[in-house]
Amino acid sequence: MTHVTKSFIYGIPKAELHLHLEGSLEPELKLQLATKNGIDIGQTTVEEVQKSYQFNDLSSFLGVYYPAMNVLQEEEDFYNLAMAYLRRVKEHNVRYVELFFDPQAHTTRGVAFETIINGYYRATQDAKEMGIRAHLIMCFLRDMSAESAMEHYEMSLPYHELILGVGLDSDERNNPPLKFQEIFARAKEDGLHLTMHCDIDQEHSIQNIHDVLHVIGVERIDHGTNIVEDPKLVDYVIEHNIGFTCCPVSNGFVTKDMKGKEIVELLHKGAKVTVNSDDPAYFQSYISDDMFALAEKENLTEADIIQLAKNSFEIAWMSDEDKKVYLDEIDAYVSAQ
Ligand code: ADE
Ligand code: ZN
Repeated sequence: MTHVTKSFIYGIPKAELHLHLEGSLEPELKLQLATKNGIDIGQTTVEEVQKSYQFNDLSSFLGVYYPAMNVLQEEEDFYNLAMAYLRRVKEHNVRYVELFFDPQAHTTRGVAFETIINGYYRATQDAKEMGIRAHLIMCFLRDMSAESAMEHYEMSLPYHELILGVGLDSDERNNPPLKFQEIFARAKEDGLHLTMHCDIDQEHSIQNIHDVLHVIGVERIDHGTNIVEDPKLVDYVIEHNIGFTCCPVSNGFVTKDMKGKEIVELLHKGAKVTVNSDDPAYFQSYISDDMFALAEKENLTEADIIQLAKNSFEIAWMSDEDKKVYLDEIDAYVSAQ
């Protein structure tokens, strides 16, 4: 039990830094797009779609996640997907977002890179009218080849102004960070920010976390809570202000454990831990729901929630001046309670 109210959590200004746009495809929109684009997805009602969400680990989740993307065909579809997410999190007082997208999941189905990026980017621009600043992070699928990642990186070059950073997602098993060392070095040289998924309880988890920090040189780690197994690495991330984008509800689906103890241990040690939703349409949990679930499970205090919200701006890829504006907003919110 926590004494923090749901309304305090929903209302506190926050940034979301770990959100897969394709993971925000709600059943209603999926069915609507399937009808519009004449695609048979095998289900015709929301209930049937929800029933198809049977997963108990990362691989089985990804097995449901990728085929669903077939309904995304035209620029407008990508735009509408991103806008639906933005409208939804406006209710959670999300003020700033960095959105993951997976171009390879679409180009491999014959959708042009420009269709994807133009749709998503237009939504980030229209987000301003909602009072949300939005940016894009292009992810590479780690279960595809390094050559494919490089090809997509080169496809993205004419659109570099539209991308804030690069990330790495999908199935970590047998796809370690170093497979993508060259492309991340190139992206860094080109001035892009770097993050990588270190999924929960993976084989060679600590080695992979070591490599993303000491060889790739990421600024943030997505998930990554297995780091608690190695105190030296924990000291390193605290000293270097490396951020963690944790997703407790998602963790509960793919590992049967929210990893709340690990998240809170890191938070209380001073690591820049944040709470995010990952794939909210699949895990039926948007950012404040994740924060509330963690608060309930780990008995969080208001001070913990304030720290999580502050961390979300502190590890965002924005100027110190901009960070201060949002941090002041949090202080004003707290004072007004
Ligand atoms: N793609 C979408 N969600 C993901 C996750 N939780 N881990 C790895 N890849 C993903
Ligand atoms: Zn993720």
